[in-house]
Amino acid sequence: MRFDVLTLFPEMFDVLNSSIIGRAIQSEKIKLNVVNFREFSTDKQKHVDDTPYGGGAGMVIKPEPIYDAYKSIVAKLDYKPKVIYMSPRGKVFNQQMAIELSKENHLIILCGHYEGVDERLIEEIVDEEISIGDYVLTGGEMPAMILIDAVSRNIDGVLSEGSTSEESFSNGLLEYPQYTRPEEFMGRKVPEVLLSGHHANIEKWRHEKALEITKKRRPDLLENK
Ligand SMILES: C[S@@+](CC[C@H](N)C(=O)[O-])C[C@H]1O[C@@H](n2cnc3c(N)ncnc32)[C@H](O)[C@@H]1O
Repeated sequence: MRFDVLTLFPEMFDVLNSSIIGRAIQSEKIKLNVVNFREFSTDKQKHVDDTPYGGGAGMVIKPEPIYDAYKSIVAKLDYKPKVIYMSPRGKVFNQQMAIELSKENHLIILCGHYEGVDERLIEEIVDEEISIGDYVLTGGEMPAMILIDAVSRNIDGVLSEGSTSEESFSNGLLEYPQYTRPEEFMGRKVPEVLLSGHHANIEKWRHEKALEITKKRRPDLLENK
């Protein structure tokens, strides 16, 4: 799967070169291309923003540099990749959306900054606006990284087989508690059933715990089941 990111702060994406996503990039399970759309500004000082029509605080990103950066990507393609604009006005991101997006073969992700981007650019190239939650951040870079991480771990071969099948949200429940060695820590013992080797009982215990935790912490998830 290929991700192209349109941003003013490409260096922020270096974080994705670590850990599991870093390995997925190295093994080419995913391809990440980060484009600084400031390079497409025709302005001498490479400005990309201007004051909002109608007045008001802050600056708005002009449409042309983003459009030209976008064109430089799609001009070489014989298909139209899905374009996502990270925006607090968008649909709030969740695991189901991550799974659906992992079926795409190419995503272009636009990161806004300042007061956001000119609406006409959104109308022209954006297929979907996605928010990562009901709060406002300074830029779309961290939201884009969250989306790339959540989508990538649902792509075949990025995680080991079965890693996502019982995770929180995968079956409408939060995950059951996990334990590893030692068998006792600060007087707290690992639940007996997990040491029993009885797979059916372990599965039953995990399901009951997942249900109990979901009921207590996120009853709204059970309403949608
Ligand atoms: C300061 S915000 C602009 C907020 C905009 N003026 C508003 O009130 O909706 C700058 C950029 O950060 C990104 N951003 C901020 N909060 C976000 C969120 N919750 N989800 C996704 N992107 C977000 C968007 O790309 C946005 O264009």
